[in-house]
Amino acid sequence: AFFDEAPKPLAGKRAVITSGPTHEAIDPVRYIANRSSGRQGHAIAAALARLGAEVTLVSGPVTIADPAGVNVVHVESAREMLSAVEAALPADIAVMVAAVADWRAADSADQKMKKKPGEAPPPLQLVENPDILKTIGHHANRPRLVVGFAAETRDVAAYAADKLARKGADLIVANDVSKEGVMGGVRNQVMLVTKDGAEAWPDMDKAEVAEKLAAWIAKRF
Ligand code: CTP
Ligand code: CA
Repeated sequence: AFFDEAPKPLAGKRAVITSGPTHEAIDPVRYIANRSSGRQGHAIAAALARLGAEVTLVSGPVTIADPAGVNVVHVESAREMLSAVEAALPADIAVMVAAVADWRAADSADQKMKKKPGEAPPPLQLVENPDILKTIGHHANRPRLVVGFAAETRDVAAYAADKLARKGADLIVANDVSKEGVMGGVRNQVMLVTKDGAEAWPDMDKAEVAEKLAAWIAKRF
């Protein structure tokens, strides 16, 4: 009953969120991935839904549960993630939280690659994946509010400001992933970067970051 009576400032608004890592196949049994758990993105999807938004969560492979009250689309690769996000347009809000693999194998083998006695290991040729945030930030059907994340290990504010401009985002939520326990962990310390400047938030639970970010977003509508 509490949630039914809570104010719904985002009622009637559509949001698309990406979350988790992507997996990029090398062969049928091997892939390139990263440490993202999906916790931050899933929590943001749930928080926006609690504020009344109609949420599509495009999730890479994660072990956490689908959040309640959200339409979840499960994908594996960056290219699948981009297609699913574009299929969720038009939307009012896009929040691109996924740790999308920057590169994929240039060609993934149809059969399991085998060791060959006496031969050197095979070279792994990489090609760049599509940039989902940048595509959405410059889309003909661009959501009114486009939010990106930035995973940095140094010069967080400067790199975040650069990503804001380059990707056509309205807000970049930057975090320092060199801090132990951020990537894959439960806590996060973020800095919000817009064209008007930067604001650092204290260290908190990823669920709290999600609540505060959803409230920040609701204020823009
Ligand atoms: N992103 C994306 N598609 C990609 C790469 C990144 O949508 N192929 C999004 C992420 O979801 C995040 C933002 O772009 O919202 C920034 O991701 P990040 O990895 O920090 O930046 P990159 O642009 O990939 O640059 P780099 O990893 O070299 O710092
Ligand atoms: Ca990246």
